[in-house]
Amino acid sequence: MSETRNGGDTSLITREYFDNILVEMRHIDNAEPDISYTLYGKQFQTPVMYAALSHLGRVHQGGLTEAARGVHAAGAVMWAGMGEPEEMTDIVATGAPTINIIKPYADEREVLRRIEHCEKIGALAVGMDVDHQFGSRGERGSVLKIPMRPTSAAILAKYVKSTSLPFIVKGVLSAVDARKCLDAGVRGIVVSHHHGMVDYAVPPLMVLPEIAKVINGAMPIFVDCGVERGLDVFKALALGASAVSVGRATMAPLGEKGADGVREKIEQINSELSWAMCVTCAKDLASIDKSVLHWKTERPF
Ligand SMILES: Cc1cc2nc3c(=O)[nH]c(=O)nc-3n(C[C@H](O)[C@H](O)[C@H](O)COP(=O)(O)O)c2cc1C
Repeated sequence: MSETRNGGDTSLITREYFDNILVEMRHIDNAEPDISYTLYGKQFQTPVMYAALSHLGRVHQGGLTEAARGVHAAGAVMWAGMGEPEEMTDIVATGAPTINIIKPYADEREVLRRIEHCEKIGALAVGMDVDHQFGSRGERGSVLKIPMRPTSAAILAKYVKSTSLPFIVKGVLSAVDARKCLDAGVRGIVVSHHHGMVDYAVPPLMVLPEIAKVINGAMPIFVDCGVERGLDVFKALALGASAVSVGRATMAPLGEKGADGVREKIEQINSELSWAMCVTCAKDLASIDKSVLHWKTERPF
């Protein structure tokens, strides 16, 4: 989160960017839209996914595993962040196809052990949040006292080669890094600033078109940060995202109603997304047309 509320609050800047994009209506030749989504050979009911969260025990005693039950019930993709391998086993056992984002541990053997564990339990994919390689604000070089290390393109290529699972890089916020991921053989990227890793971070949607141009359909592009409603998802998809993750917006529903709360939140966002597609003549996700978007104030690039 931001160190200061006086300026540069990345979450606020990101919200403003979403709200600066308006949608043109197209009503003629419309049809009831299909929002089903296919990822790594599996079909899902929605492109709205859970974000790679962790340490949710304080929100609900069932933590991420309880959230995964809701995600499974919604027919969505589950993501999980930092946590013990046993927790990943429990999450996958809920039946929710799950992607585990592993930290850039300084101890490479720890990363490889976790990748192997994900293969064994049948995870959908694995990956790494490269934006945490220097640790956290105020705790440079480590996360929760566990040492991290900078991730090079060569290290990423090594992790990619070490596994039969798709390897994803989370924390891409530049076309430059997107190119490096492509060259390293990565199978998916998450365009994200990790809920405001630094102040004044560029909103994911602002750099998404540039990143999509570099990736050019070679791998799925996922987006997170500040997604709260179906129109946010619609705008991300229109600008080049394949699917979108929702994190903090699911936390209160998880705390209040457990798995049902998470399922209901995803279903609410689905319904809003589907409505946006109804009124813009998009019969499926591939038909969402970028040209329906307009910028309230002049577009920066
Ligand atoms: C409680 C919490 C725990 C998180 N843990 C992780 C993590 O372990 N690994 C990771 O890559 N991202 C982690 N994130 C970041 C999310 O995956 C996501 O990038 C971020 O919250 C932005 O999405 P949102 O605005 O929808 O919450 C965490 C976020 C929250 C709120």
